Amino acid sequence: MAIGTGDAGHDLPYPVGMDVPERWERSSRLLADHRDIIDATEDHAPPAWAARRGWLPWLEARPDAFVDAADAAGLAALLDAAHDAPDDLRALGATVRALTDLPLLAGEPAWALDPRRAAPRKRAQVLAFAALTAPLARDAHRIVDVGAGHGHLTRHLAEAFAAEAIGIERDHERVAVATGLAAGRVRFEAVDALTVDLALRPEDLVLGLHACGALTDRLARAAAEGGAAAAWVSCCLQRLHAGAVRAPLVTPPVGEAALTLAVRILGLSNAAPQAHGVEADLSAIAEARARREGLRVLLELRGVVIHPGEELRGVNRRRSHDPLSALAARVLAGRGLSAPTPTELSCATAEGATRWAARRRYALPRRMLGPLVELYVNLDRALLLLRAGHAVEVGRAFPADLSPRNLAVRAGRRAPARAARSAPTDEPPPRARRGEVA
Ligand SMILES: C[S@@+](CC[C@H](N)C(=O)[O-])C[C@H]1O[C@@H](n2cnc3c(N)ncnc32)[C@H](O)[C@@H]1O
Repeated sequence: MAIGTGDAGHDLPYPVGMDVPERWERSSRLLADHRDIIDATEDHAPPAWAARRGWLPWLEARPDAFVDAADAAGLAALLDAAHDAPDDLRALGATVRALTDLPLLAGEPAWALDPRRAAPRKRAQVLAFAALTAPLARDAHRIVDVGAGHGHLTRHLAEAFAAEAIGIERDHERVAVATGLAAGRVRFEAVDALTVDLALRPEDLVLGLHACGALTDRLARAAAEGGAAAAWVSCCLQRLHAGAVRAPLVTPPVGEAALTLAVRILGLSNAAPQAHGVEADLSAIAEARARREGLRVLLELRGVVIHPGEELRGVNRRRSHDPLSALAARVLAGRGLSAPTPTELSCATAEGATRWAARRRYALPRRMLGPLVELYVNLDRALLLLRAGHAVEVGRAFPADLSPRNLAVRAGRRAPARAARSAPTDEPPPRARRGEVA
């Protein structure tokens, strides 16, 4: 399902559901219809959008175990079995699930990765992404890896396909590490991919493995303009934008203004469900959030009224895992205030827990829309390439337990289906110089 080449002449090796334009149109409309939810700030007060829809009583009555499960798996996954939920909320959940249910993109056998300086999870991500880009990399004269980091993907593909490869990376230290590990026709350039002319050509393949926010927008634009093949795995949509909003790359069916999204909203896509133990322990995160609510209470007791999210001003977010007494002393000192009294602390602890309990319940429908935001932005990028004549597929690069940031787009000049149709083989690819089947 969910594959769209935009080229009716190609046989696809998997069942076809919605193609890219249909999925883009439906997600555009759904997102535009729920802008009031995604634009809202999460807080402990009952949100107006939930009151308007009559959802407050059901949200407020959710037991802790339900909210914990929704945080881990996403509300949409629970709504099918939640027969007492409001009908329109259940319908919204089912639609979000149908739109964001994407297949793993078919790849080719991956080749053993040089493990130097790569953590196990990063190695597995690189291998999976290399496998899915192999059909494009085989034909590329030059591979351009945007936001190359330590260059694991760049080196791997250059070796496997004996191609010229360039890793573009802004961070000089990472470029130094990548260069130290490189051999052959790979080079790394310490430049800003947002400002340098990528000067892509139709024989190029441009890649971005977790190239954040505006970096992937840039990559997609450059590939569309230069006619290069492209593939990316989406990451942190809110990052690296010059302004406060992201305008669509292609005008959505509801008009550009309806889906010009504030950059802070794009961060909602990072709130997608996470399996326990993947990014951080969920209960530790929940406790830290309750502590931050407690901080707001403390500041209010001292006459300082702030917006949600401003309570840690001047203090590293990691400090929110410290005990409230230590965290509060640090925050208050940063604002020129004296340390909290025991009475203030116990009041902040109790009220903070109450507010957090309310806030996380009210946040459930909004967070359910996070994966939709992520999907829409990537379909917007994909459609730009489709309209530029590319054959485009949208799917998952690897299972979510490897990284919940796994939404991938693969865009080639030739139909990827042609490569995917040939069965995986134990033989090394013809141009492979090193490695073994992983
Ligand atoms: C999430 S990391 C991914 C790194 C690598 N692709 C990987 O998967 O290991 C994003 C990388 O993009 C780099 N980056 C951020 N902004 C950039 C820019 N404007 N130009 C080039 N690289 C940039 C960062 O320094 C970082 O190494």
